[in-house]
Amino acid sequence: MKILVTGGAGYKGIVLTSKLLEKGYKVTILDNFMYGYEPVLHLVNNRNLSIIKADIRNKIDHLSRYDVIFHLAAISGYPACAANPHSAHLINVQATRNILRNLGKNQFIIYASTTSFYGRSGKPCNEKTPINPFSVYANTKYMAEQIILEKENSVALRFATIFGFSPKMRIDLMVNDFAYKAAKEGVLVLFDSFAKRTFMHITDAARAYIFTLDNLEKMKGGIYNAGGNHLNYSKLEIASMIKERVDYNIIDSQVQDKDLRHFIVNYDKIEKLGFKPKISVEEGIDELLKVYKFYEYYSHFKTI
Ligand SMILES: NC(=O)c1ccc[n+]([C@@H]2O[C@H](COP(=O)([O-])OP(=O)(O)OC[C@H]3O[C@@H](n4cnc5c(N)ncnc54)[C@H](O)[C@@H]3O)[C@@H](O)[C@H]2O)c1
Repeated sequence: MKILVTGGAGYKGIVLTSKLLEKGYKVTILDNFMYGYEPVLHLVNNRNLSIIKADIRNKIDHLSRYDVIFHLAAISGYPACAANPHSAHLINVQATRNILRNLGKNQFIIYASTTSFYGRSGKPCNEKTPINPFSVYANTKYMAEQIILEKENSVALRFATIFGFSPKMRIDLMVNDFAYKAAKEGVLVLFDSFAKRTFMHITDAARAYIFTLDNLEKMKGGIYNAGGNHLNYSKLEIASMIKERVDYNIIDSQVQDKDLRHFIVNYDKIEKLGFKPKISVEEGIDELLKVYKFYEYYSHFKTI
């Protein structure tokens, strides 16, 4: 089986690629490397890995040679999309449309969707809950999900917010960010401290992708929330878990966050099929704090 990972040099993509290679798959990373090349360098001596530097806004050569496409390339996250709304539209939506147009009937596409577009909801959100996107990020990801699901051989995985370490680090993600501020700055200012969100460790995210690969026939055409029912927490709960491990100040500002997301997600559908995350947020915080003792974040982000 030949696999293409778009966005394979990204935070999630590089961890997924490593796991696929460990399982013996032939994997091609396609990425424009807007965050630099370093994340992929530790894998280049793997004979089953190919690397293509390309932009998904352009036609992808030889797309038909891949059996499965994990489509992760995107302007990812609320802040990056708010800073680049035009690029977010071109990359997240239009480029996804172009990829879909060029896929054959038998090729599979597995889409990195998000729980972000549940927005604000009083009840636990399952895959049938009406969506409520507040941001450019959530809107563009939802539009792309709809495009993906026009294809029969597709799966949309609506991921929880990921945490944990990756060779291409993202410290804008909530647990990663809170732990960084606690460890490096000694203070964290909370907005909407009550707001609930949903989380999953990056290794479990890679497991969710591989679980999908192993269950393609059962899952095809479907939307699956990807995370765990036991991993919904408020911002204050996350901040407090960190405080049990490192001494720092939590300032509850009582001010409304610009990011209005507040929801709990239900993961029964994927759990019934047999997938459940294994790593707790507490374990993820321990891992992050261990690395943040010596790690300084430096963004390689280039203008796009
Ligand atoms: N990290 C999360 O918490 C999370 C949660 C839900 C969904 N997702 C989705 O998972 C996917 C991966 O997220 P991530 O956290 O790894 O983000 P990331 O920003 O680290 O990775 C995105 C990758 O896409 C590449 N890319 C961007 N534009 C490109 C283009 N035009 N052509 C080719 N490559 C391009 C970037 O270089 C980067 O390597 C995204 O689609 C994101 O929306 C992420």
